[in-house]
Amino acid sequence: LKEDAVLAVVPYGEPPLIKGWIPYIGKALEFGKDAHKFLEEYKKKHGDIFTVLIAGKYMTFIMNPLMYPNIIKRGKQLDFHEFSNQVAPRTFGYPPVFSSKFPGMPDQIKRSFHLLQGDNLTPLSKSMMGNLLLVFKQDHLDKRQMEDSGEGGWRTDSMCEFCSKVMFEATFLTLYGKPASKRRHSSMETLREDFIEFDKKFPLLIARIPIWLLGRTKAIREKLINYFLPQRVSCWSNTSQFITRRVELFEQYNSLRDMDKAGTHHFAILWASVGNTIPATFWAMYHLVSHPEALEAVRQEIHSLLKLWGMDDFSDRDINLSREQLDQLLYLESAVNESLRHSSSSMNIRVAQEDFSLPLEAEQSVAVRKGDIITLYPRSMHMDPEIYDQPEMYRYDRFVQDGRQKTDFYKDGQRLKYYCMPFGSGATMCPGRYFAINEIKQFLFLLLLHFDLQLVEGQPKVTLDTSRAGLGILLPAKDVRFRYRLRAA
Ligand code: HEM
Repeated sequence: LKEDAVLAVVPYGEPPLIKGWIPYIGKALEFGKDAHKFLEEYKKKHGDIFTVLIAGKYMTFIMNPLMYPNIIKRGKQLDFHEFSNQVAPRTFGYPPVFSSKFPGMPDQIKRSFHLLQGDNLTPLSKSMMGNLLLVFKQDHLDKRQMEDSGEGGWRTDSMCEFCSKVMFEATFLTLYGKPASKRRHSSMETLREDFIEFDKKFPLLIARIPIWLLGRTKAIREKLINYFLPQRVSCWSNTSQFITRRVELFEQYNSLRDMDKAGTHHFAILWASVGNTIPATFWAMYHLVSHPEALEAVRQEIHSLLKLWGMDDFSDRDINLSREQLDQLLYLESAVNESLRHSSSSMNIRVAQEDFSLPLEAEQSVAVRKGDIITLYPRSMHMDPEIYDQPEMYRYDRFVQDGRQKTDFYKDGQRLKYYCMPFGSGATMCPGRYFAINEIKQFLFLLLLHFDLQLVEGQPKVTLDTSRAGLGILLPAKDVRFRYRLRAA
C-alpha cells in the first residue's frame, strides 16, 4: 500500500489523518516500536499537526513546541483526567474515582498533592536522606564488608538493579513508613521483585490488553495490593503526611472496599512514585559514571559547597543536606535534568471536552471535536537539534549558564516557554516532581561523596528500550556492570 492510500480525506481545517491498513490497530505497532522515529517521519511528511489511529484512538499530535502553550493553557477544554480515569483504574485494579459514587473525591485527591510540595517538601526530603543513608550504610557503606569483598575493596554490581534496590526501599520507607518494631521491612525484596514483574506488563495493560491474558500478572497485582491492606498499613510508623492524609480521605468513603483503598491509594501511588524514578536514577548515574569528566566536575561542586558550609568532615559518613543546600547543587541538578531530557518519553494526552477551534499559530487553527485526543510528545522537542545542540550527546552542564540555571532555549528564533517536560504539563503536571528531582540528587550526592565508581570495561554503550515509549522514563535495553569502592573520608 502506498502511504497516500492510508491518508484519509479530511475536511478543511482538520489535520491529515494517518490510519494505517489494519482496522482498529492502525499504526499502533509501528508507534510502539519507536515512537520518536515514527513521529519524526510523519512530521517530515505532514508538518507540525497530524492525526494517527493508534489502537482504536484517533490521536492528534502537535509537534511544534512553540504551539505547546496554546494546548497547555486550555486545561478545561482539553482535560487529562478523562483519559487517566479510564486507564489507571483498569491498570491498577480499582473503581474510577471520577464517579457519582465518590462525590468530592477527585478534588480532595488533588488537594493532597500539595503535601509533596512547597514547605511540605522539607520533611519529606529530610526523611528521604535519612532513609537513603540507612540503606547505604547497612548494605554498602560498611568498611569491613567492602574490604571483605576482595579485589582491593572494589565490589561489582548491575547498575539498574543497584539503583532499583536503593531507591525502591528508601522511597517506600519515606512515603509509607517503617514497620512497628524495625527500621526496615523484611519483605521489601519480594515486594520489589513483584513490582518489577507487574511493571514489565504495565505497557500491555495501558494498551488495554485484558489482564487475564497476561499470565501471572493478575495474581501478582493482587499480591501487591494485599501488601497495602488497611490493617497492615495502620501498623507502620513514620508515614509521610501525604500518605496519612490519603488514608484519612479514603476512610470517609464507606463504599470503598479495603481492596480498593489498597489499590487506589497505595499501589497506584507506589507505581507513580518509583516507576519513573528508578529508571531516571539509573540514567543519571550511568551518564555520570560513563563520563568521568562530568562525574569529577559534579563531585568537585559537592566538595566545594561542603567546604563552604563547614561540612567537610564526614568521617562518620552520616552527612545530611537540607533542602536549601540541595537547591544550591546547580551542576548536579543540571546533570539530572540532562539525563531526564535524554531518557524521558512521556506523552501528554488531553481529551477535548467540547467542539472548538484551537488556535495554534498566527493564522492557523485546527478544528477539534468533543472526544478528540490531543497529544504532545515532548521527546521530539528534547531531541530537536535546533533547540539542543547535538541532542544525542550527554552534556552534564547543559542547563547551567553564567553560574545559574539556564532557562532560555529557542526554536525558530523564539524563546520557548516549555523546553524540558519529563513531568507533563499544566494543571496535571506530576505533583511529585520536586520530590523526585531531590531524591535523585540525594542519591547521587551520597554516591559521589562516598564511592569511587567505574564501569566494568568492554561493555557496549547502554541504549534506551523504546518499547515503553509514551509512558514515562525509558528503561535501559540491557543492564550494565559497574564497580564501586569506598573513598577515603
Ligand atoms: C503524574 C512523571 C515521580 C506522583 C505524572 C505524569 C508524568 C509524571 C509525566 C503525568 C502528568 C501529565 O500528563 O500531565 C514523573 C517522573 C518522575 C515522577 C518522570 C520521576 C523522575 C513521581 C513521584 C511521585 C509522583 C516521586 C510521588 C511521590 C505522581 C502522581 C501523578 C503523577 C500522583 C498523577 C497526577 C494527577 O493525577 O493529576 N508523573 N513522575 N511522581 N505523578 Fe509523577
